[in-house]
This record gives sequence, structure tokens and C-alpha cells, in this order.
Amino acid sequence: MATAYPSAVSIPSLDDLRAIGAAQQPTYADSIDRDRTVDTLRKMPPLVFAGECDALRDKMAAVARGEAFLLQGGDCAETFEGVTAENTRNKLRVLLSMAVVLTYAASVPVVKVGRLAGQFAKPRSSDAETRDGVTLPAYRGDAVNGFEFTPEARRHDPQRLLDVYHASSSTLNLIRAFTTGGYADLRQMHEWNTDFVRSSPVGERYERVGAEIDRALAFMSAIGADPAELHTVDFYSSHEALVLEYEHALTRIDSRTDRPYDVSGHFVWIGERTRQLDGAHVELLSHIANPIGVKLGPTSTADDAIALYEKLNPERTPGKVTFITRFGAEKIRDLLPQLIEKVGAAGVEVAWVTDPMHGNTFATDNGYKTRDFDAVIDEVRGFFEVHRSLGTWPGGLHVELTGDDVTECVGGGSRLSAADLETRYETLCDPRLNRAQSLELAFLVAEMLGHN
Ligand code: PEP
Ligand code: CO
Repeated sequence: MATAYPSAVSIPSLDDLRAIGAAQQPTYADSIDRDRTVDTLRKMPPLVFAGECDALRDKMAAVARGEAFLLQGGDCAETFEGVTAENTRNKLRVLLSMAVVLTYAASVPVVKVGRLAGQFAKPRSSDAETRDGVTLPAYRGDAVNGFEFTPEARRHDPQRLLDVYHASSSTLNLIRAFTTGGYADLRQMHEWNTDFVRSSPVGERYERVGAEIDRALAFMSAIGADPAELHTVDFYSSHEALVLEYEHALTRIDSRTDRPYDVSGHFVWIGERTRQLDGAHVELLSHIANPIGVKLGPTSTADDAIALYEKLNPERTPGKVTFITRFGAEKIRDLLPQLIEKVGAAGVEVAWVTDPMHGNTFATDNGYKTRDFDAVIDEVRGFFEVHRSLGTWPGGLHVELTGDDVTECVGGGSRLSAADLETRYETLCDPRLNRAQSLELAFLVAEMLGHN
């Protein structure tokens, strides 16, 4: 129904957006090369469908109403080298395992969203990096430049945006195959973690949940019930909408609704460093119909949040905007209550999600960027406490994790120490929870949800 949305159909051009001004953008030396790449991207098929984005938006509306819980997770930064079957399967596996634990132990529907198939561009606190007296442009994610510390690798190369498209396309293809082709079948849930059950206490705990679910499944089968939900899962993609060339080229008018959708992913978010009310990111995302997230750090005021909401969702479409707070464990109990209260008092209904990662990063003495599992848990606890005291709904969890047994965050059941970090530290950006830490987090959150 084109007439229902008279103002939404036109979107600003890339030049309009550049004129508005955007933080954290690549600087391409050759604008002809850049424009040619954007033209190529504009002709590429959509990576996701508008109808899927609508379905996720409806699910996020259920989260905002307190009827579902969001689990969103994946790498801080995906890499092209990391686009392998094993890596993708491992990430999917840990997210599905966490979702099963949350669904079973807390009896809440879980909306499953990966930070994947597009999470290739990173905002940085500094434009440059210096090593041994040599200064080069900072690594901004594989979407922009290479990690290797050479002038050639660190050059901002627009061709990489095409590589992002193809990497995202093959990741999504595999995810679609896994989630609909039998791998996500609940009867497979033992297989997801067999290698790990024997070696880890949290693995054993997972296996006990699995045994209970098996009994429930056997009962259902005995009475002849076999719902489709047991065999497939709705899994969605998300990433930070950062590089305007990429997001703009993949923003298309949907012929069914006549509205623009960013078809680079189902859910896109605006980062803490690019959420300026009058900036280009907020402008572009205010035109799209996808569900979107906005990261809110400790300096955000309630007035900022309300103004962002009004700009991003003037029609007040349910499920369109999610606020993802990342205050840090020490600040959440002080800052979150008044934010929620004032936003609620303004009549704004959003899903509230906690990102317990980005406010809890520090460097160890031996030079690793890490996070302490206890601080992560503490921020999540603070999030639940605040919502419980206000009578509002703790809508979800946004985490950086991997399905592999890396050593990037300290603490957790296996008590990783700073000295252990060198064993398997692989991230090119922020430290991620490993599989055991992620599952442990899921069990703890399930308990918190159960008491809510
Ligand atoms: C991120 O999610 O990787 C990130 C950079 O977060 P933030 O914008 O909250 O700092
Ligand atoms: Co990060």
C-alpha cells in the first residue's frame, strides 16, 4: 500500500548523507573506484528479504511487550578468513545451545539473532596506529582495510565492500542450510556439544537439560504431536550499519510495501560513536523499515534517547527501535533506572537489551585487551535488578562470543587467568566469550529470567 507511507519512500542520496556528515567513515583515495563499487553493489540481489525483516520487527515488538527475550551474539569483528563452514557452524551451535537453555529453563520464547553475515566494519577510537615509531591508518575491519601492519594492507580499499557482500552471502547461505536442513532440529541438540560434555561441568549441565528435553520430545511424539518448530529455527542476521556506501547501496524499495529496507541484514544497529542525532547514520536508518538497534553508552541522557527514538521511529511502529545499553558493571545500577523511567514517561515503548561487553573492557599487564567474566555477569545482574525494581521487562542480551574454545576473556568456570590468554587469543578486535563461558552465561541468565 504505497499511499500508507507518503513520506517514507524517498531516501537521501549518498551525496546528501555525506553532506550531512558521518563519523567513522573510510577515506577512499579514488572516488571513481569507490563509485564504481557502489554501482556494482546496487545491482546485487538482496541478502535478506523485506518480509523476513518484518517478521523480526514483529518479534522485537513482542520483546518490547515483555513476551519474548532477544539473544544476539557473535564476533566483535568478522573476518574474511573466518568465513569457513566450521567457524560459522560453531557460532550457530553456541547460539542455538544458549537459546535452548534459555527457552527451556526460563520458558520464554527466544528471538535468535547473530552478529554475523555483515559484521565486518569497526569504529575505532583512533584513526592511526603506531608501532615501533611507524604510524599507519588503524585497522577498521576487513570491510575497510587489512589487519596486517603494512601501508598496502592498511589502505582503505572500496573493493573490500564487494568482498563483504560475498562473504555475507556465503555465510547466510550456510546458516539457512543449517537452520532449515536438519542441523537445528531439537533432537540434534546433543550432537552440538558432544565433544565438550565430557570435559566441562557446564557441558554436563547442558547434557542434563538435553535429557529432560528428550523426555518431553518422546512424550510429544507418543501423543502424535510433531510441530514444525522442533525441526527448524528462525535465525536472523545483524551487524553495525557503519560504512554508508555499503548500507546505502543495499537499501532498496520493497515492491510489496513500497518502503525502503536495508537488505544487507535483518537487523542493523547504530554504534555508540555514530549515534549523533543530526548525523548521517541516524538519518539513513530513520528511512528504513528494518528493526534497528541503538547503542547507548554511559554518557547518553534520557533526552538523547527520546530524541533518537522520535527521529528513528516517528510513526511509532512497534518493534522498530531497540535500545542496547553498554554502561559497564559499575555504572548500570546508577544510570539505567532513570533512563528507563524517563523514556517510559515520554510514552516511548522499546525493547531494552543489555550489552555487558563494551563497558567492561580493560588491558592486562601482559598486554591483552580482555574482559572479566564476573564483570560481564555483574552488568547482566544489574540489568535484571533494575528492571525488576521498576516492573519493566529485561528484553535481551547482546554479546560478543565465538563457538570456539578461545582464551580471550578472563574468569568463568574454567577460571582463565591473564597468563592463560596467550594460549588461544584470536580476535582482531574485542575479546569474545568462548563456548564454555557463553553457555555458563546462558544458564545464569536463565536463572535470572526464571526469577523475574
Ligand atoms: C560493537 O558492538 O562492537 C561496538 C563497537 O559497540 P559500541 O558501539 O557500543 O562501542
Ligand atoms: Co566489540
